[in-house]
Amino acid sequence: MSMTSAQIREAFLSYFAERGHQRVPSASLIPGNDPTLLFTNAGMVPFKDVFLGDEKRDYNRATSSQRCLRAGGKHNDLENVGYTARHHTFFEMLGNFSFGDYFKREAIQYAWEFLTGVLQLPKEKLWVTVFTEDDEAYDIWAKEIGVPEDRISRIGEKDNFWAMGDTGPCGPCSEIFYDHGEEVWGGPPGTPEEDGDRYIEIWNLVFMQYNRQADGTLDPLPKPSVDTGMGLERIAAVLQHVHSNYDIDLFQALIKAAAKIIGTDDLDSKSLRVIADHIRSCSFLIADGVQPSNEGRGYVLRRIIRRAVRHGNMLGAQGTFFHKLVPALLEQMGEAYPELVEKEKVISDALLREEEQFGKTLERGLAILQDALDHLKGSVIPGDVVFKLYDTYGFPVDLTADIAREKELTIDVEGFDKEMAAQRKRAQQASQFGVDYNERMKSSQRSEFTGYTDVAGQSKIVELFADGKLVEKLEAGQQGVVVLSQTPFYAESGGQIGDVGRLTVNGGEFVVTDTKYIGKAIAHHGHTEVALQVGDEVQAQIDAERRAAVKRNHSATHLVHAALRNILGEHVTQKGSLVTAERLRFDFSHFAAMTADEIAAIEQQVNEQIVANHELTTALMPIEKAKEAGAMALFGEKYDDDVRVVRMGDYSMELCGGTHVARTGDIGSFRIVSEAGIASGVRRIDAVTGLAALQYAQQQEQLLRSSASLLKADPSQLPERIQQQLQRHKELERTIAELQQQMASQAGGSLVENAKEIGGHKVILASLDGVESKALRGMVDDLKNQLGSGIVVLAVAADEKVSLIVGVTKDLTAKVKAGDVVNCAAAEVGGKGGGRPDMAQAGGSDAGNIPAALAAAERRIEELLR
Ligand code: ALA
Repeated sequence: MSMTSAQIREAFLSYFAERGHQRVPSASLIPGNDPTLLFTNAGMVPFKDVFLGDEKRDYNRATSSQRCLRAGGKHNDLENVGYTARHHTFFEMLGNFSFGDYFKREAIQYAWEFLTGVLQLPKEKLWVTVFTEDDEAYDIWAKEIGVPEDRISRIGEKDNFWAMGDTGPCGPCSEIFYDHGEEVWGGPPGTPEEDGDRYIEIWNLVFMQYNRQADGTLDPLPKPSVDTGMGLERIAAVLQHVHSNYDIDLFQALIKAAAKIIGTDDLDSKSLRVIADHIRSCSFLIADGVQPSNEGRGYVLRRIIRRAVRHGNMLGAQGTFFHKLVPALLEQMGEAYPELVEKEKVISDALLREEEQFGKTLERGLAILQDALDHLKGSVIPGDVVFKLYDTYGFPVDLTADIAREKELTIDVEGFDKEMAAQRKRAQQASQFGVDYNERMKSSQRSEFTGYTDVAGQSKIVELFADGKLVEKLEAGQQGVVVLSQTPFYAESGGQIGDVGRLTVNGGEFVVTDTKYIGKAIAHHGHTEVALQVGDEVQAQIDAERRAAVKRNHSATHLVHAALRNILGEHVTQKGSLVTAERLRFDFSHFAAMTADEIAAIEQQVNEQIVANHELTTALMPIEKAKEAGAMALFGEKYDDDVRVVRMGDYSMELCGGTHVARTGDIGSFRIVSEAGIASGVRRIDAVTGLAALQYAQQQEQLLRSSASLLKADPSQLPERIQQQLQRHKELERTIAELQQQMASQAGGSLVENAKEIGGHKVILASLDGVESKALRGMVDDLKNQLGSGIVVLAVAADEKVSLIVGVTKDLTAKVKAGDVVNCAAAEVGGKGGGRPDMAQAGGSDAGNIPAALAAAERRIEELLR
């Protein structure tokens, strides 16, 4: 049997739908609200919370064809793309799922029946594996299904225990392999030749049983469940009798399109496979809202695009080419994924921009690399070359590694990491000290900080800067920087912002707007209202009220750090902090969003420590002694030999140079105002203290009261009343949908009856009212079905905008292209459109001209059918 990818997808979904599974559409590549995961990397991801028992749905069996991405994160295949017959960054995973319904027996029976019954794969071509200790699955395969024992292998944890990520649902699995025949090199699973392409895993049945915790423990799921995954591309290869996924219908079309655009006829080139793979992942990522950038998901996208661009370059592509592949991709996948069609322009634009940007440095980067290769001794490209390519020429490390691999070389990853760390340090310093002028300022002074005890004091000007340069004096009205011999002003460091205040000098004032370090000198930034010069005596006075607020927030930061470790666990480490007068911000490592209970527990514990009113003590001691005593230090931070240890009762002990309250009671009160993920595995808390915490509580209460008064309810009744409103809303929506359905089928019926005859074909031309433009595609499909053969042209106006849509039944697309007709019509209403030969859409703004647009469409159809 030979089937196209689209037919296989449909056969799979209907097989399981007929067996009580809900058909669920593919979710986005970006997992909703799951900070533990970079991308949707398996069909089960959208159901994660259902497996965990945290979410209920009104079905307990589901089936889907889920778009997946495996580049970056736990499951990463990027490096293998192009080198094997079966690895992709993007692929579609067909899956059936049981949420506490059926388990191993049915999962195995379904899989076997679908493969050997529906797809009619010869039984003797199939091999299976089970997890080493899973006798139950072994017996089902051997005794009930009747797979000969020499074709069942027991395999260990690496391949037969599947986990979504470092945390989350997981369990033992059983895999089904297909033997592509002896002309392909490779051995059965579990043999030394298993990495060859002969025996290929086509379906993985995971018996979901556990939730893996951050510390590695396995908690049982509420109910044993099933998650299966079959790569559409792999099974298509089997059914199309080709052994490489890249030889299936869909990939061949993309490869041919790429070859044509680039101008090569080497259709077997690895680079074309890479490009065909990458256009899919990049387009879907952009359609799902990711844009190329320098971090997180955006950086993965950037890396994939740049890898594709480099492979095009190797094939001799002139200028930009990658974005030109988007129409070919739409041709292949637009029907199954309408969201791709909708985002066509966004996708091409983003790809083009990135291609242009990388194009500017690609040539020069490659020349640098060639030069390094010419001088290379040994087989490792040095870390500093890899870093320079990365930093100056935008070569992601895996791109350089890819080039190295082609030449049978490797790269010095460790050396690269070292350069990266050094650069990060520089960037950190730059952002701490303000790059613009501080970088240029050098000072040999060492100011004494008196602000741990004092808020004011006498001092002397030892240095002055204007425009970043050392000067002898500042004139009245000038901006500048004052360095004092000693000062109560705290210079920004350790996350605590610099003080503001004033320096009284010569009967006038220098207004201090920020305080930062220049080396060991404390620099007061601001402007002067009076002339001053080096040697002048000043009276320094900080804004003491602001400092008091900063102190409350800084001391609270230490308490929250300790509370997080007590409540969430010792894995919590500080990743960054910001202490200002208004609030405190604390970033820390943790792999899940905090629950409301956890947040409440942290607030409770911190407030308990405030009420306990511990005295805050500080002591200078050698770093070794501080660490021995258990003081918390920041990992990777470089400390002086003698460090300052800040301690609050027995509750908290940290290395810190900041300013703090005298007793914890001075903090007054503590509330967390937000908790969010900011990067993979990093959470951020924003909190307030003192009177700001009271204000926060009052604002919240005000919100609650005004919401309640909108519903004319008492705040205590709010949840119930909202519930009622939502219920009512749902009922109304249902009624509206029913009415629309009725209206549409009435309208549809009369449209079909009144269809015109043009050149012997039925043509519907109509302007509709009250139809949502989103519903148009469905209507056109419907009308096409009712006509059997014919053309449908519909226009609707809403909010001054016009939507036009043209559908052509497949038998007529050779003569009449939907895009052609829709563009003729669109021209009359000031718009432009596009789409596939059988369905195209356009927008416009001139609703008054709809009759003219329909007339234009009619004329065009007449011309084409003549
Ligand atoms: N979630 C399983 C996999 O991705 C089915 O292999």
